[in-house]
Amino acid sequence: MAGKTFGSVFDRQMFVNIQGEIQPAESASVNVMDHGFLYGDSVYETIRTYKKVPFLLARHLDRLQRSLGRIYLEMPCSRADLESQIQKTIDAVPVESDLIMRIVVSRGVGPIGLDIGSCTQPRYMIYAMELTPDSIPEEAMPDRGGGGVHVVVSKVRRNSPRALDPSIKSGNFLNNILAFKEARDARAHEAVLCTSDGYIAECTTANIFLVKDGFIWTPRPWGILDGITRAVLFEEAEAAGIPISETDIPPEALFNADEVFITSSVKGVVPVCMVNGRGVGVAREADEGRRGPLTHTLQKLYQVRMENEHLAHSNPGEPADSPRASNADVD
Ligand SMILES: Cc1ncc(COP(=O)(O)O)c(C=O)c1O
Repeated sequence: MAGKTFGSVFDRQMFVNIQGEIQPAESASVNVMDHGFLYGDSVYETIRTYKKVPFLLARHLDRLQRSLGRIYLEMPCSRADLESQIQKTIDAVPVESDLIMRIVVSRGVGPIGLDIGSCTQPRYMIYAMELTPDSIPEEAMPDRGGGGVHVVVSKVRRNSPRALDPSIKSGNFLNNILAFKEARDARAHEAVLCTSDGYIAECTTANIFLVKDGFIWTPRPWGILDGITRAVLFEEAEAAGIPISETDIPPEALFNADEVFITSSVKGVVPVCMVNGRGVGVAREADEGRRGPLTHTLQKLYQVRMENEHLAHSNPGEPADSPRASNADVD
């Protein structure tokens, strides 16, 4: 079947919508003179669907718009058109499972050279692929027997906001790729990058949090991507009366934390059980396989949020106080 024929690259159903034309990923291509390909001159968003509906789409499109503005790139179509093309792409994937969506806007075709004025037609591409169980490592899912993922603190520093600001979700990803290689070399799942000042910034594709004495801490939003999952966790934690705040975090604090977890739109809330080969939090006490209590609570709050957003999307006219999925079982 289409999308299943190219071994490890296309090992799952994957379709791409290029400027309104949807095709299987193995037959889709971009022009070799596209500056997204030549220079990483593009921005993107990664979104997951929940029951065929893109989760928190409006926030992702707002961030896409901000990234576009920061690199002086125009959206090649209206927001309404983009939304309808996203839905068409979702509907084109013949699977029932949830999907990972990647929406890319590229500078488009132009001559070799750095003048953005020479590229007159930006292009969008919407990728949709199955969110298969291996999209999220087993170790990230305590329900599947894992106690958490392993991370390493990378020697690679996060780009300075005065260079390529990490708050722009840009297709120029070499900073993260080089850090991720360190993670892979150490057989870890993720790398933690620090700012040039030596404080924790974020992971290669996730934000990072730690818990100490019942308090949740995360790096300040300077030199990181302002993660949408991160923002939702602030809202959920604050609504649940769980103290959460931003501060400068030295990497050593990870070793003394009671819990560490990372967040992203694709992975959700993922516990970390090992930093640089040393157990952290509950794992330090040889209790691997059990996530920390606040990580567990936030995983459940996030799941409930996803269900509630889906209900609100399916019943747009419903009054705000109508029954919703409950947080009551969040422990
Ligand atoms: C560098 C980086 N930080 C953080 C995140 C998490 O952001 P979000 O929660 O919006 O997916 C991502 C997601 O891809 C990322 O690439």
